[in-house]
Order: sequence, then C-alpha cells, then structure tokens
Amino acid sequence: MCGIVGYIGEKQASPVLLDGLKKLEYRGYDSSGIGVITSDDGKMLLYKTRGKIKDLQALLESHPVPASSIGISHTRWATHGVPNKVNAHPHADCAGKILVVHNGIVENFEELKKELRRKGHRFASETDTEVVSHLIEENYRGDLISAVRKAIKRLRGAFALGIISADHPDTLVAARVGSPLIIGLGKNENFIASDAPAILEHTRKIIYLKDGQLAVLRKDKVDISTFSGKAVRPKVDTVTFKIDAVQKQGYAHFMLKEIHEQPEVLRQMLQKRLKGEALDLEGLGLNDRQLKAIDQIVIVACGTAYHAGLVGKYIIESLSGVRVSVDVSSEFRYRQPIIGKRTLVMAVSQSGETADTLAAAREAKAKGAKVISICNVLGSSLARESDGVLYTYAGPEIGVASTKAYTAQLCMLYLIALKLSSLKHAVSPRERHLLIKQLRNIPALYEKILKNKNAVADIARANSHFGCFLFLGRNVNFPSALEGALKLKEISYIPAEGYAAGEMKHGPIALIDEYRAVVCVAPQSPVYEKMVSNMQEIRARRGNIIAIATEGDKAIAHHAHQTIYVPATHELLTPLLVAIPLQLLAYYIAVKLGCDVDQPRNLAKSVTVE
Ligand code: AGP
Repeated sequence: MCGIVGYIGEKQASPVLLDGLKKLEYRGYDSSGIGVITSDDGKMLLYKTRGKIKDLQALLESHPVPASSIGISHTRWATHGVPNKVNAHPHADCAGKILVVHNGIVENFEELKKELRRKGHRFASETDTEVVSHLIEENYRGDLISAVRKAIKRLRGAFALGIISADHPDTLVAARVGSPLIIGLGKNENFIASDAPAILEHTRKIIYLKDGQLAVLRKDKVDISTFSGKAVRPKVDTVTFKIDAVQKQGYAHFMLKEIHEQPEVLRQMLQKRLKGEALDLEGLGLNDRQLKAIDQIVIVACGTAYHAGLVGKYIIESLSGVRVSVDVSSEFRYRQPIIGKRTLVMAVSQSGETADTLAAAREAKAKGAKVISICNVLGSSLARESDGVLYTYAGPEIGVASTKAYTAQLCMLYLIALKLSSLKHAVSPRERHLLIKQLRNIPALYEKILKNKNAVADIARANSHFGCFLFLGRNVNFPSALEGALKLKEISYIPAEGYAAGEMKHGPIALIDEYRAVVCVAPQSPVYEKMVSNMQEIRARRGNIIAIATEGDKAIAHHAHQTIYVPATHELLTPLLVAIPLQLLAYYIAVKLGCDVDQPRNLAKSVTVE
C-alpha cells in the first residue's frame, strides 16, 4: 500500500514531506520520492530513489533542496513496474510541469497509455500512475482544476492522487476513489496524506476525503467538491490518538509494543461495551428486532481477520444457535454466494481498506444483505460503506503482522455472540454470567501471560533452527493454529502450516520427523484428550512438540518437549489467550533470525489492491 504526503504553506516543504513519509514507513514500500516547486523561479524539482527513506534522505542531503513551500511525496509499493528510481513517484508529464503521486491501481491505464502515445506523449516509466500526469497535460488549457477533473473522469480503478503544477505554485490538488486520503488543516498551511500519523505533529484537524471528491488546497484555504464540481461542506474531525501512539515507546519493534498493548485494548473495549451484563454495540446500525430476525451470518475477511472470523463461527453458533459461514473475501466475491433476506454479512478488517474485503462487502450489499463491519481504522472505506460499523478502537497498528487488532476482533465477536445469545435465549443465564465474568478477566490474564514472555522467548530461540513448522489445534483452536502459522511464516519466512489436528492422519502426519517442529494448541477443553493422542502419534515419529497448555497441566510434559502455559479460563475463551504465546513465539523466532519484524519482505500493512 503506497503512502502519500503533500504540503502547501509557509514552511520549507521537503522536511515536512520527508518526515511524513517516515511516519508511513509501516505501510511497506520499495521506493520513494519527493517533488517540489521552487519559490524563487517556480521550477519543478524531483528527487526519487529505490530503497528506504534513509536513501531518499541521503539524496536530499547530497542535493540540497532550494526554498520551496509546496510539494508532494510518496512511498511506493510496486504494482505495475519493478521497484526502481524511474518507477518511483512522483511522475511528471512530458513538459515536466505537472507532478502526480498515486495510491491504488488505474485499471484502464494500458488503453489510456496507447491513446496518449498516439497523441505524442512520451512515457518514462512502466507505471499506471504516469498516465495520470499525461492525461492532465492533455486536458490542460491553463486551468489546472478543470484539467484534473477531465482527466480523473477517464480513470477506472482505485486511486488517491496528489497533484501539483509549476504553472500553479499556489495550488495542491487531491482526489480519491477507493484509496484513503485525508486533508490536514493547519494555520497558513494545509496537508494531504494517506494516513493521519504522517501529519499529526502539524495538525489534528482532519477531513477524510470521500470517494468521488476533489480537494483544492491553498495555504490559507481548502475547497472540496465532487468530481463534477458540486461544492461539498466537509466534516472536520479531530484526531485524538497521540503521536507517540505511533512510536515504539521503548519496545524493539512496533509488533512487540502492540502485543503488549493487548491487555489495555481489551480492557477499554470491555469497559466501553459491557455495562454490567448488558452489551453496548454502538455503531452496529441494527436494533434488537432486526438482530433477532437474522437467521444466517456470513463473515468475510482476509488473513488474520479471516482467522478471527473462523473463531467467530464457533463462538456465535455455540452461544446463539445462529448459523455462521466464513469466507475468504477473495473467494466470496467471485463465487455465487447465497444471500437470503435474513442474512447478515460481517466484514472484518483492521484497515478497512483491504480491496477483497471491500469488494466482498459491496457484492453482499448488491445482493441485498445488511453489511456490518468490524474495523480498527476510523473513517476507513469499509467503515463508511457498511450499514453499521463496530470500531475496535485498538489504536494504530503499525506492525504489518496483526496482533492487537486480531484479539480486538476476537473480543468484538465474543460480544456480538453474547448479544445474540441474549436475544435468542440460546444459553442459560448462568452460563452467560460465567462467560461474561471470565471475559472480563481476560486483560488480567493477558498481563500474567506477558509476564512470562521470557520463557516463551527461550523456547522460541531453542526452536528457531527448524526449517518447517506445523501448527495443530481443534475446535475453537483450529483457527488459533492457522493464525499461529500465519504469524510465524509472515515475519520469519519459515514455511509454517496450520491444520485441524484431527486431519493429521489424512496427510500431514507424513511430514512428521525429527527435523520438524509441531506446535500443539492444547488448553483444557472437551477435545484435550484428542490433542494428547495427536501428540503421542507425533512423539512416536520423533516430531518436536511445543505445547500450549493450561496452567497446572503437568501431564502434558510427558508428551511435549516444551510447554507454554496459559491461565485457565472458559473453554470458549481460550482462542483469546493462546493468541499471545503464538504471537510471541513468532516474534522471538523472527528476531532470532534477524528478520525485519515490522516490515516483512513482500508484505504491506493493508492490501488495497487485488
Ligand atoms: C496479518 O498478520 C496480515 N498482516 C494480513 O493477513 C492481514 O490480516 C490481512 O491483510 C487483512 O488485513 P485487514 O484486517 O486490514 O483487512
């Protein structure tokens, strides 16, 4: 997912742009660039480089930027064209007078490129983005805004754009369809950015640009209109999270910081949404009568959010009797899903910008379903397109590997299950009371688990030499096994597979030997004995077992080589607890292997393209 920062004001633009890009590094990128218009002679200057922001910084230090108070900058995550300097943004028109930065994909760029080439335009890069600068140039007759409006009308796909022109040094233009873009309002200065952290040290007054909107920024005013020119009175939000919320606060990595934030995230969520035994699902957008009428829930999500959805299936069905199916978003959107009148579609997405989940939600709405979303990013596209949104308020999650967002999604799904169970009277008041009591205790149990993190680190380091891991779980912890495998593979690059333990004899047992590590998620539960049998079969084939078990379970030591203990809790709540040891195991193995934990290779924080 690319990062955009733009500035117009009275300060020197380049340091503002560079610092803004640094705050967006978490989004994953492979090249970056800055474009400015010089204040003295209105020249357009471009600085681009492959690699990290520090490489761009070195370039700017070796080529000092003349005075300029307007500019745009970009971190690129390659979609069209290899990561290199030429393909890095910003991109210019033939005359080098118009610069564009872009996040998203212009789906019809080939046909546009052919048309523009026929009209004599010469292209420097392989990117889809470059067609935008030439399209604006083609439509430019002295009025930049009009040229931009004509150009963006020709674009198909998702785009967030930042545009400047040497002939209009007092104007910064922004437009969006499908990719997030915010406007920051300052005093004699204004900003554009893909995400708030980029500009938080300058302003907390933010406008979330909506799809189909174009913004014209001057240093002392911002005008917003639809693409066709109809003026819009935007809502101005004030961002509350603190800038240090996006700093590491002394932890080695954002991921480790965010793992440690989980007790507080859950504590705040429960305080906000659990009043006594009453559920406050503010934002749901459905009243009790509508909720009661639901006879099927379809959960759509990707990656870790999908694993949260799988746990949600077990929990909601078990507590409410409502049928739940869970789909990977990219599958849901291309199969013919059966959506009934009483179907509720639940889209789970930390970023709220995942292209497949957005598309799945749109597909569900087109079929007449009510769509609610569980999101972490306020004002995200999915949040705004849903009939209701349950924000997890977990705060910015910077590490690419999702941790606190996952357990916050799980907690939200437990709350939804409890709400449905109370409406459907599906469980006894006593059972419900016990569950709520134990759910309230989870943050304290998290703190207990985190106090034991060094024991997990030792086990992780002792097993970091294995070239392949198998994660096994049953029932509510089958998704935990999938999530544990994803956490490990995405940050350590070790092949890791999550499997339903009952499936072992149907193939995976062939993998077991002394060169393999097997993580068995085996807390106390009705399927515990089955997990022990699996461990005996693994042990007999010299597999190396790391068990995650319930405190006090001494017997497990006869089967596992090493054991990570979690406190006892209600069986249905164990996915919440085992998530932390699985996150820590992956984290410490990746650190031991010297991997880039926060920005793993090839990954982006949010996959805003297919
Ligand atoms: C999880 O650690 C990964 N970063 C990835 O699988 C992620 O969960 C997935 O891309 C979905 O992202 P979303 O929650 O923002 O939609």
